[in-house]
Amino acid sequence: MKLYYSSASPFVRKVLVCAHECGVAGDIELVPTKVLPSEPNREYARVTPLMKLPALDRGDGLVLFDSVVICEYLDHLSKGPRLFPPEGDARWRALRLHALADGILEAAVLCRYETVVRPAELRWDVWVQGQLLKVDQALDFLEANARDLEGLTIGTVSVGCALGYLDFRFADRRWRDARPKLAAWWETAGRRPSFEKTVPHA
Ligand code: BEZ
Repeated sequence: MKLYYSSASPFVRKVLVCAHECGVAGDIELVPTKVLPSEPNREYARVTPLMKLPALDRGDGLVLFDSVVICEYLDHLSKGPRLFPPEGDARWRALRLHALADGILEAAVLCRYETVVRPAELRWDVWVQGQLLKVDQALDFLEANARDLEGLTIGTVSVGCALGYLDFRFADRRWRDARPKLAAWWETAGRRPSFEKTVPHA
């Protein structure tokens, strides 16, 4: 299998953490791929029309996207414990946590593009503040619902990737300061080999 990849992308990290946890990381070849909203990658458009990372070429003609679809596919290949609970409330709780963490990531990545990619004279601070408010409120929700962070699921994997991305790109916002339960959870969870092997770098 080939994974179209950037080491800075938290959505790619989510897939790689799942690949390690599912015992299939060794079956995946990484294809470094440059993606920027301001520079459409026409070659990559032949792989996926949205030109978003990641995409997984299974090697049999089917390319999977987006990240959560790839994660569920890898989980289906796994012989170990499942990251996607198959049914019941455990499933809805895991998917809800995943949605929350993905929402943090989408808002944070949009802010990153706005402040780094967009020319200074076109930046819109009110819009950035609106995205950062989503991030802060979602983190507060996680702090208030820290019990939901039990176990290893697609939800907790995604929360780890979201916190790791904030540490990587938004360290100055000091998300830990008012959120001791979340900080303590990540202190332990972040030591899993799957997270340690996938720490982002520029
Ligand atoms: C980043 O450099 O922050 C980044 C790279 C790829 C996707 C999303 C974010």
